[in-house]
Amino acid sequence: MRWTIFYLVILVHLVPVTTLCQLKIVESIPQNLTYPGGSPTHESTFKGWADILNLAKNEVNISSFYMTLKGSDTKTKDPSTKEGEQILTSLKLLGGKGVTIRIVEEISSKGKSDSDQLEKLKLAQVQHLNMSNFGTGGILHTKFIFVDGKHMYVGSANMDWRSLTQVKELGILAINCPTLVQDAAKIFEVYWQLSKPGAKLPHVWPPALSTSFNMQTPMKVDIGGGSNNPYLYLSSAPYTFCPTGRTRDLNALLNVIRSAEKFVWIAVMDYIPAIIYNKPYQFWPVIDDELRRAAIERNINIRVMASYWSHTKEQMLQYLCSLTADSQIKRYPHYGGWIDVKLFEVPVFTPEQKSIPFARVNHNKYMVTDNKGYIGTSNWTGDYFNSTAGVSVTIQQKDGNNSLPQQLRDIFSRDWDSKYAKPIICNGSVF
Ligand SMILES: *[C@@H]1O[C@H](CO)[C@@H](O)[C@H](O)[C@H]1NC(C)=O
Ligand SMILES: *[C@@H]1O[C@H](CO)[C@@H](O)[C@H](O)[C@H]1NC(C)=O
Ligand SMILES: *[C@@H]1O[C@H](CO)[C@@H](O)[C@H](O)[C@H]1NC(C)=O
Ligand SMILES: *[C@@H]1O[C@H](CO)[C@@H](O)[C@H](O)[C@H]1NC(C)=O
Ligand SMILES: *[C@@H]1O[C@H](CO)[C@@H](O)[C@H](O)[C@H]1NC(C)=O
Ligand SMILES: *[C@@H]1O[C@H](CO)[C@@H](O)[C@H](O)[C@H]1NC(C)=O
Ligand SMILES: *[C@@H]1O[C@H](CO)[C@@H](O)[C@H](O)[C@H]1NC(C)=O
Repeated sequence: MRWTIFYLVILVHLVPVTTLCQLKIVESIPQNLTYPGGSPTHESTFKGWADILNLAKNEVNISSFYMTLKGSDTKTKDPSTKEGEQILTSLKLLGGKGVTIRIVEEISSKGKSDSDQLEKLKLAQVQHLNMSNFGTGGILHTKFIFVDGKHMYVGSANMDWRSLTQVKELGILAINCPTLVQDAAKIFEVYWQLSKPGAKLPHVWPPALSTSFNMQTPMKVDIGGGSNNPYLYLSSAPYTFCPTGRTRDLNALLNVIRSAEKFVWIAVMDYIPAIIYNKPYQFWPVIDDELRRAAIERNINIRVMASYWSHTKEQMLQYLCSLTADSQIKRYPHYGGWIDVKLFEVPVFTPEQKSIPFARVNHNKYMVTDNKGYIGTSNWTGDYFNSTAGVSVTIQQKDGNNSLPQQLRDIFSRDWDSKYAKPIICNGSVF
């Protein structure tokens, strides 16, 4: 009798814990980048990926710009390549055990990617998406990992060993969240269909790919928080890749800015209000207008934390300086809000770190306001919304103790107030 009660108690405790959806912010913090004790810390991207791959029984679907998970891919010999190599090994083991692995990658990565080897060894089915076939140009830039229709990762991290140990990344991990994950997987299916030989952009997407979860009707995700459960939706770019009901990424982003009541904090690698890759070069002030309007007309305080590294474009610095124009007069109350800009630089501490190509950078692409969070895969230039394939997750959640937006605010503050973020220096008058 006593034992029966004991087992019942265990069951009551176990069942909800093992079946409830878990949503976690995961981060990559570059080697040797440290914060003061007590700063927010999150599970690593590496652990998140390893955990969901460990759960795989049937299927893994990955969409990715490219795949360079081995040190040898970048000619790097360093212990920090180990995590990436471990992920590649997991994929090989899963493929060998008969788990179906599908990878859709950007066409320009063909022949230069670890996926080539997975395909050759028949461990994965690999397809390449050529965005030039669909009238917009651009590239496949979405970073998605799906496992068994229940678990997923989406965020800024490429399938690259550097994204796990040498680049600063932020994403979201969903574990045991079939409704959310199966909705997101419809975006993968769009890439999968369009990367088949001869594929054409359909005039109307099949109804099976449409969604009822969007900006108007986000999905309530039960993470055991009762009335504090979050509401989420995924959005996609370019808009030609959005079946019925799917919110366009640009609209999701603009809506988050428009619905802010107090502040908008943006952490994005690159910010340029122009279409810089597709010819002709075009001014693209869509987001820029929205930010200035929010600050000047609605008293919203805006912080933009862009990234500074050896490849930063001078043009971005000038555009960011222009954003701060009204901050100069923030003392005048009738001007309402202001826009402050800082640049986050990941320091290079060692010669080994210096020798790693395209590393040591803040690659984050998210935004958080007083009422919503937005985790994306895109830089804020016109190209990423007009032509490149990317996605975002928008999250609304009542502020319980540790809501996802609150976690993002804490991460943003940690970084904004850190010694790695410095106010942009705008040189003003030359006289
Ligand atoms: C950087 O991190 C590595 C690996 O954790 C460690 O071995 C090394 O001592 C650190 N170097 C510095 C300069 O902090
Ligand atoms: C991608 O598609 C464009 C236009 O259809 C074509 O010209 C180009 O050769 C394709 N790229 C590759 C690598 O196949
Ligand atoms: C993986 O992708 C294929 C093709 O889009 C789809 O049929 C399958 O359901 C997907 N599986 C998962 C786990 O997302
Ligand atoms: C945007 O982000 C990618 C990586 O996601 C980076 O390599 C690229 O140079 C960035 N900037 C622009 C302006 O595209
Ligand atoms: C890209 O931008 C051009 C010019 O601003 C516009 O005409 C076109 O509709 C846009 N395309 C997409 C897919 O957003
Ligand atoms: C919030 O945190 C406080 C103090 O840590 C705790 O007493 C309370 O139970 C928490 N509330 C919820 C909803 O988790
Ligand atoms: C300001 O001047 C310094 C020194 O000449 C220069 O390095 C920096 O790039 C300038 N900043 C901007 C935003 O023009």
